Amino acid sequence: MRRAMPGIAILTAGLMLLAGCSADRASSDGSAPSTNGIGPITFAIGQDNSGWLQGVITGWNQGHPSQKVTLLLLPRASNGQLAQLVANLQAKSDLYDVIDMDVIWTAEFASNGWIIPLPQGQFPLGEFLKPAVDTAMYQGRLYAVPDYSNADLLYYRKDILAKAGKQPPRTWAQLQHLAMTVAPRYGLYGYAGTFAPYEGLTVNFASAVQSAGGSILSPEGTRVTVNSAAARYGLEFLVHGFQQGWIPQVALTYEEESAQDAFAAGKFLFLANWPDVYAALSAPGPQNKVYGKFGVAALPGPDGPGSSSLGGANLAISSYSQHQRTALDFITYMTDLPNERQMLEQGSFPPVWTRLYTDQSLIRSHPYLPVLEQAINSARPRPAITNYDQASLAISSAVYQALTQKKQPEQALTEMAGQLTQIIRDG
Ligand code: GLC
Repeated sequence: MRRAMPGIAILTAGLMLLAGCSADRASSDGSAPSTNGIGPITFAIGQDNSGWLQGVITGWNQGHPSQKVTLLLLPRASNGQLAQLVANLQAKSDLYDVIDMDVIWTAEFASNGWIIPLPQGQFPLGEFLKPAVDTAMYQGRLYAVPDYSNADLLYYRKDILAKAGKQPPRTWAQLQHLAMTVAPRYGLYGYAGTFAPYEGLTVNFASAVQSAGGSILSPEGTRVTVNSAAARYGLEFLVHGFQQGWIPQVALTYEEESAQDAFAAGKFLFLANWPDVYAALSAPGPQNKVYGKFGVAALPGPDGPGSSSLGGANLAISSYSQHQRTALDFITYMTDLPNERQMLEQGSFPPVWTRLYTDQSLIRSHPYLPVLEQAINSARPRPAITNYDQASLAISSAVYQALTQKKQPEQALTEMAGQLTQIIRDG
């Protein structure tokens, strides 16, 4: 079992304090961690972020020659990142100082004592998107600083829709109709998303369920609510897509990058994916066949725009870091307004500063910003429970069985509900 017993976590933190180690130096009254702990640090982050990041890191390193940051690239997909981080944190390794933590991990990392609480008053949280700040809190304390937010968007081939004289779809019925009629006429598949059995599938399922008016768990994560007609309607939307062929079988292997690559190769009319795909598709190159030919809209839902799962990442400090003061300063630097702006401009990651969404020059260069802000504000967090990864595994495996037609949607949901009930009980 992955999680340490809570008692052990508390004992460990206590011992580390007695021994004068650097864990948990930040106090709940908002004071800064000890100024001990200055020196070189590592920054662990998933691989797809590295493109825009190097310049920001170089900027820091030039100004802080004795506190240099080394980038430590984790696997691309969220599940792989989690496995690597957890293995090291459980071993109390000081390999990672600053961790780019998926928004869904806060409860697990904080409850295990793997990350330290941060001095809340030191960050301009009031200037940040509130849903993003909420994902960084655990039991009323700030455990990480929002770095970027995320909400799925619908990418579409604007050249093809224009040729067919059609508007981008706003409803599931329109999406299905265009994917079934227009796409084949132009030699394209209909719709791609992240349907491989991993976190990306949980994201897609949760979006479909909540767009249909359902939920997986109650907001406090104490009750299973997925065995409902609304949830079944959401799941059936995806299952029918595979049965009817407008979501092709190959999409069952797609994670973020492979889905993006297939769309960039010109194979699909529609793609549901995160906003950073915008930067990749906007760069000309031999692999990018849709340069200048794609548009971005809100995810469709049953009767109008749907609701995405809230994604994103927050920056946390490892309890085992030897240089927590530097780590805190680096996080402050990473999340300041100029760097957040650059992250949007160069990587199209959704910044957490609200004012960037109404900045006219940014709206000119990124015309979909208002759509993105709306998508983030209407997105819903995945359940903030300490054993989230077990719950997500139960969800994605059951959904995958339904998509591959090994189980009827109703049966898959009943089994999922049973497993989730047990996971919550054991949590
Ligand atoms: C993105 C999101 C993250 C989500 C993951 C799923 O990285 O930011 O929140 O869990 O995709 O694959």
